[in-house]
Parts: sequence; structure tokens; C-alpha cells
Amino acid sequence: MRILTIIPTYNELESLPITVDRLRSSVPESDVLIVDDQSPDGTGQLADEMAQVDQQIHVMHRKGKGGLGGAYIAGFKWGLDRGYDVLIELDADGSHQPEQLPTLISQIDRADLVIGSRWVPGGKVVNWPVHRQLISRFGSFYSRTLLGLKVRDITAGYRVFRATTLRKIDLDAIESVGYGFQVDMTFRVARLGLTIVEVPIAFIERELGDSKMSTGIAIEAMINVAKWGLKERAKTLAAKGKALTS
Ligand code: GDD
Ligand code: MN
Repeated sequence: MRILTIIPTYNELESLPITVDRLRSSVPESDVLIVDDQSPDGTGQLADEMAQVDQQIHVMHRKGKGGLGGAYIAGFKWGLDRGYDVLIELDADGSHQPEQLPTLISQIDRADLVIGSRWVPGGKVVNWPVHRQLISRFGSFYSRTLLGLKVRDITAGYRVFRATTLRKIDLDAIESVGYGFQVDMTFRVARLGLTIVEVPIAFIERELGDSKMSTGIAIEAMINVAKWGLKERAKTLAAKGKALTS
């Protein structure tokens, strides 16, 4: 089983080396792809230096801040082209503990997508401001209701995908630039009838650097979710109508 962990970075100079070290010790068999969007703080150069001393580390440089969704899609394509069997999403800032990754990976035998979940029994958040907890919980509730999903942590960013799952998804059709990308992927995997397993994790708020979450990103996600929900409902109604008239 060839494993690739993708780490998107935008101004993560202090956090990135710590996270990559922890990942390399926790899951030494995993290759690493850092996708940097020309971070002004020089994270991209640091990543290049790390890649020079460790053959399992690779770096992709994109031209300017293009959003979390775009960074992951570029990373998925890179990994699928190179024949990886398992592709992982991991934040650079230490919120996703690499030490919990072996548990997540152990579940991929029985799932098409494994989600490291904050909002299932046993899952938790540490030091996360109350307003972020509310946004996250509301975001999951809102998306779950509108899209008819069972997943508890729909916006989660700690994920293990099988390559076969990603190959079934038209990655070029994904329009979400920001964190709505996570909801988008969950919805697409669920609609294909694939198996999603949530594993409880402890999400630890970053100690270094800043979050890139913004009101714009949240609004993009809310509008898109409403759009997808309506589209899906229209499809179901059209199918029902067809069944009635035939
Ligand atoms: N390349 C690239 N380009 N990386 C980005 C960009 C971008 O435009 N925006 C964010 N990132 C990277 C950050 O550098 C970090 O490694 C990771 O994506 C997550 O960004 P944060 O800004 O730390 O996210 P957060 O802590 O506010 O949000 C967390 O919760 C969200 C909602 O549940 C993350 O776990 C998200 O993945 C999750 O969707
Ligand atoms: Mn973060």
C-alpha cells in the first residue's frame, strides 16, 4: 500500500517542520507532498530544503494563494498520477495530530473515506475558540440537513481517501475554493454510495501562525451547500415525476 500525505501550506514557516517531523516518525512509510501557494513568509523555500534532505518529501509550488480546495485537488492529481493507493489530507499547523494517523489509516480497509472527526463520541477540540466551535458545529448541522448526509463532522480536514474513491470523482468539476471543499468532497463520496467511517480525533488549536478561515470562505461554503441541496432535491423530484408519468 503506497501512502501519500498532502499538506497544504500558506504561511506555516514555524509549524510545518514540526508537523512533518511528527508525521515522518508516526507514519514513516508515507511519502509527503507539501503544496505551497507562494507563502510570503518563505514556507515554500523551507519545504524545498526539507525535500533536499529527505527523499520521501516532495513540494509543489502554486502561483499565489489559490485556496485550500485548489491546493488539495492539485495534490490529489499529483498523487494519482504517481500511483499512490491512499491519499491523506493533513493541516500543517499541528491541529491534526500525526500520532493519530495510524488509527485513521487502519480503518481504510473497511472504508472508502476515513474522516478524523471532532463531533463523534470520543472526539474533541482543545483550545478552539467558542466562536469557531459554533461555526464548525453549525456548518456540519447545516450541511447535514440540506444535503441529507449522516456524517457528523462534514467540514473536517483530517481525511484518508482510497485512490479508487478519488478516481470516481471528477476533480475538475469541484468549484469550492475554500473550506467548502471538504463538504463538497463528503457529499460527492456519499452520493456515490461509498462507505465513510468517522474516527474520533482530538483537534488541537494551533499555537503558531494564524488561521486562514475568513467570513468570505464561510459564506462561499454556505451558498454552495444551499445550491447543491436544491439541485439534489430538484433531481429527486424530477425522477419522481418521471416515475409517475411513465
Ligand atoms: N496551499 C494553500 N493555499 N494552503 C492553504 C490555503 C491556501 O489558500 N488556505 C489554508 N491553507 C492551509 C493552511 O496553511 C493549513 O495548513 C491548512 O490549510 C488549514 O488551514 P487553517 O487556516 O489552519 O484552517 P483552520 O484551522 O481555520 O480550519 C480547520 O477547520 C476547518 C473547518 O472545520 C481545518 O481543519 C480545515 O481543514 C477545516 O475545513
Ligand atoms: Mn488550523
